[in-house]
Amino acid sequence: MNWGALDRYAKSLIKEAGHHIKHSFFTEIEISSKSSANDLVTNIDQEIEQFFISRIRRDFPDHRIMGEEGFGDDIQSLEGIIWFLDPIDGTMNFIHQKRNFAISLGIYIDGIGMLGYVYDVMADDLYSAMKDEGAYLNDIQLPKLKSTTIEEAIIGVNASWVAPNRYVDNEPMIDLVNRCRGTRSYGSAAIELTHVAAGRVDVYMSMRLSPWDVAGGMIIASEVGAVSSTMKGERPGLLEQETFIVANASIHSQLLDDFIALKK
Ligand code: IPD
Ligand code: CA
Ligand code: CA
Ligand code: CA
Repeated sequence: MNWGALDRYAKSLIKEAGHHIKHSFFTEIEISSKSSANDLVTNIDQEIEQFFISRIRRDFPDHRIMGEEGFGDDIQSLEGIIWFLDPIDGTMNFIHQKRNFAISLGIYIDGIGMLGYVYDVMADDLYSAMKDEGAYLNDIQLPKLKSTTIEEAIIGVNASWVAPNRYVDNEPMIDLVNRCRGTRSYGSAAIELTHVAAGRVDVYMSMRLSPWDVAGGMIIASEVGAVSSTMKGERPGLLEQETFIVANASIHSQLLDDFIALKK
């Protein structure tokens, strides 16, 4: 595979899709819900996924695609080249705020992340990375992360972590929230991964994320030295929903050992 050519191809698809999304604000957006009343999807999420899939199938018929909205392939193994696509990550932000959402894309071969993209459409910020070639924000290379401490860290968590929940014990999390420098929550896992990669936030964690939420951002974060794993410290499997944490390498294992007490 010519990865440089595929990188240029993917970037042009992403920019074209971003243009469609911006244009959609001049149309009537159809909103519906999926698994629950707050699990939203729009016709734009679906159209953008279909746009990518039709192009990829036309130009790379032997590649497979896993997309959130279900128009892609039924992926049961990581063999070959797989595109993990979230056409709009942060659909709630897209609907309510018309900003703070992203196109998230990761291209893997045999489970190894080769090309990662997160495009913050309204900011026109394209984060990208090629394996072993560094991570970029538009044309500027992101520097490697410097080490930090829990006391100096900004933690990307949402309020459900300190409310009763079925995944983790609250007490260590409350301790973490009290000890760290501050907390943030942005509502798009892909954008939160780029905040970690850019050193604006030192950790981002979520109780349940899907492969398309993290596949692109993980490659970008890894290129600046951040570590991604499940809450058990394992490599994300990319075939189903899992717990997820990405952190500055200097505090990743301390977070897992001292602050995340899984209930199961
Ligand atoms: C969601 C966003 C959100 C995260 C959810 C995801 P979607 O993706 O990334 O920040 O907390 O778990 O499902 O549905 O907007 O693509
Ligand atoms: Ca969704
Ligand atoms: Ca998502
Ligand atoms: Ca989505």
